[in-house]
Amino acid sequence: METKITVNRQSVISAIDNRIYGSLIEHLGRAVYGGIYQPGHETADDMGFRQDVLDYVRQLNVPIVRYPGGNFVSGYNWEDGTGPKESRPHKLDLAWQTIETNQVGIDEFQEWARRANTKIMMAVNLGTRGADEARNLVEYCNLDTDTYYAQLRRRNGFKKPFGIKLWCLGNEMDGPWQICAQTAAEYARKACEAAKLMKWVDPSIELVACGSSNKDMATFGEWERTVLRGCYEHIDYISLHNYYGNPDNDTPQYLAQAVNMDEFIKTVAKICDEIKAEKGSDKTVNLSFDEWNIWFHSLEQDKRVKRYTAAPRLLEDIYNFEDALVAGTLLITLINNSDRVKIACLAQLVNVIAPIMTEDNGCWLQTLFYPFLHASLFGRGAALNVGISCETYDTESIKGVPYVTAAAVLNDNGEISIFAVNRSLDEDAVLNTEFIGFEDYALFEHIELNCSDLKAVNSIEKPDNIVPANKQTGGKTELSAHSWNVLRFRKK
Ligand code: AHR
Repeated sequence: METKITVNRQSVISAIDNRIYGSLIEHLGRAVYGGIYQPGHETADDMGFRQDVLDYVRQLNVPIVRYPGGNFVSGYNWEDGTGPKESRPHKLDLAWQTIETNQVGIDEFQEWARRANTKIMMAVNLGTRGADEARNLVEYCNLDTDTYYAQLRRRNGFKKPFGIKLWCLGNEMDGPWQICAQTAAEYARKACEAAKLMKWVDPSIELVACGSSNKDMATFGEWERTVLRGCYEHIDYISLHNYYGNPDNDTPQYLAQAVNMDEFIKTVAKICDEIKAEKGSDKTVNLSFDEWNIWFHSLEQDKRVKRYTAAPRLLEDIYNFEDALVAGTLLITLINNSDRVKIACLAQLVNVIAPIMTEDNGCWLQTLFYPFLHASLFGRGAALNVGISCETYDTESIKGVPYVTAAAVLNDNGEISIFAVNRSLDEDAVLNTEFIGFEDYALFEHIELNCSDLKAVNSIEKPDNIVPANKQTGGKTELSAHSWNVLRFRKK
């Protein structure tokens, strides 16, 4: 299959906000307890954080980590996770029907984030709680004043404020599964007042309002309009969430899911601009795709998990090779929409629908660790439009899916990275790359992730079953059938 990619220096989508390579750690399953935190483990540091996990998180170079949820946050009292550990309460977490021991809270997590070389994107509880607790938390985290919550932080041993700049106004408040779900109008009021107070405490923070829980919600669109009308001047971003899966084992359809993600992003961006025009505002509200991933493998097994235990194995999807290809296409879509998507979080980071998995005897990496790693390492700079000419295919619901999808990034050091997935299950794509406005650029590295078995997985026993490999450069460039590719070019 002949494929042509054209990249033009003049055709810039946007400077990429590095926060699109963010992730999420929720108090859910073994993400925190037995994931990032396991006192007594042979790799645990002085605070009980697993250093093997920290090493991989640093390797991913994740600029932000959303915390502490997810659904968990809608029933969470942040104060429970502060102060002396021995007096912290054990509580029921109604979101995941587990027990929360509160041995990790913001006091510890901010230190984990520092050690992981990342920043926190903090979510406040707008389910069981509201503006009052939210503004207190901002004071606890960010102020240096002689007032109650800033003093409380100092009493708890943290002289310097944590300096958390990015905040989420609740989580998925439209979802019937959410603790204290709301109508759009109810949420808009609550979020608007919380936002006002939070910014009055610290005007330097940025706020993300909840969009719909996914594109298939019955209220999608109307929810966004109502929330934006109610909060427009007080917020900076609106969230998008979507998980993808292959429950019917229809791989061509599954590999086309990024087309839906692209449409979702463009629809929400259009709604933001509609409300901007309606309000005659100068401000542009951008998008925070703060939960995206593949989630379906663990759904059945999770129904059998015993309720109300601490840190059970939940949402432990084991990702196969085709999942990694889909993750690659979703990353390409985020880069290609970087003019509007300024924040994105691969949900999640450790053990729970995650690229990094732990056991007592070690850590291992899932297949989708690699596309995320490559995008995070080589996808920083300016996103350029990619013209692609290739064959297409149809699925039942999506017509004209290009076999090859790609994104191009002009890195800050002048190199160009092209990320490409060949969706064809049986044909290699012979790639002809045309650069306009770039003199004498040549391919110097071609990284490929590929496997003859689409369902193959990594595991603690076989952690290197699926790992990227370098391909020869120099002759014809080929994107093998069903492969993820990073093509790196520099001036000769
Ligand atoms: O990431 C898992 C869950 O998915 C989150 O808690 C929730 O926000 C979403 O429904």
